[in-house]
Amino acid sequence: MPLVPSYIRDLASYKPGKPIEEVHRELGIKNIVKLASNENSLGPSPRAMVAMKQAMVNCHRYPDAVGFKLRSTLAEKFDIKMDNVVLGGGSEGIMSTIMRTFLLDDDEIISAANSFIGFRVLANASGRKINWVPMKDHKYDLQAMAEKINDYTKIIYIANPDNPMGTYITHEDFDAFYAHVPERVLIILDEAYFEFAKSLEDYPDSMTYRYDNVITLRTFSKAYGLAGIRIGYGFAHEELITNLIKVKVPFEPSYLAQVAGYAALDDVDYIQETLDINQYGKDFFYNEFSKMNIKFIPTAANFITTCWSSAEEATSIADRLLHEGIIVRHLTGFGWPDCIRISIGLKEENRRCITALKKILS
Ligand SMILES: Cc1ncc(COP(=O)(O)O)c(C=O)c1O
Repeated sequence: MPLVPSYIRDLASYKPGKPIEEVHRELGIKNIVKLASNENSLGPSPRAMVAMKQAMVNCHRYPDAVGFKLRSTLAEKFDIKMDNVVLGGGSEGIMSTIMRTFLLDDDEIISAANSFIGFRVLANASGRKINWVPMKDHKYDLQAMAEKINDYTKIIYIANPDNPMGTYITHEDFDAFYAHVPERVLIILDEAYFEFAKSLEDYPDSMTYRYDNVITLRTFSKAYGLAGIRIGYGFAHEELITNLIKVKVPFEPSYLAQVAGYAALDDVDYIQETLDINQYGKDFFYNEFSKMNIKFIPTAANFITTCWSSAEEATSIADRLLHEGIIVRHLTGFGWPDCIRISIGLKEENRRCITALKKILS
């Protein structure tokens, strides 16, 4: 009897965007720009930093296992009850708890092929049957996904906006899809990039869906600049949340993460600056890409995926950018070998990326 189940042995390990230190170590390059992991280049929310510094003296105590302060504040902000809110070590932490809480032996999962790699890893690690449905025009093909629903379907995962394509499903798309989903099927709506998409007129605000079988996941990792602290949250029916809380790691998220999230929620100026920088960077990249005839997919998030003529060209571009000190994400691991995803950074970072691209392509 092998110690490790075959579905775990066969898993490919998750390869995140290269850290700055690694590129510095390997290539000896200084002044590196990282546009590879859709982080907030502005730095962490200043309010969160102050709160964390003040909270350090209490780090010898366990955190509040109930997460009262942050959960009740989120509940108030979104006009729901605290019993409808769960916290986790990033939204991926909550996804992981969802998999452990709801999946039984024969249960199946449906999602889009080549979407968020973090979910793919968790789904594969669950050992359940998964229907990966190809995207259509770089978007979730909800019609094809609805057709895959069967008696065994338990979880459907939708990243909205999607990473790495940056596309989104509209209110109308979701409503049409939802009509096909039985109540016994749980839909995970992963809204990691919600803050960047919410002003789009047809983007669905899932908080207005009070469906018993939908769980909305959001995070402090992106717009709030707290990716390294690991804090995310989810909203759902009380029955789902109660059971998730029974299964989750008891003292997750950490004390500092809860403190940081609570403080960041109020950081209105920082969020506005983040959104302004993102809009500016998006316009800048669109304009420069168009001038350089680089194909790209319009985005609803804080990154833009560019498309190249072949996997070889994309590999070469990403590698040469790395040697210019610009870390971007070549999307082979996601299943898009001819694409490169570029996170939108600060003005100067974006400018350096374009200058390097011009040099490479000239
Ligand atoms: C679609 C999507 N969901 C979730 C996450 C992970 O978020 P967290 O840091 O909250 O675990 C990411 C991060 O890249 C993402 O792109």
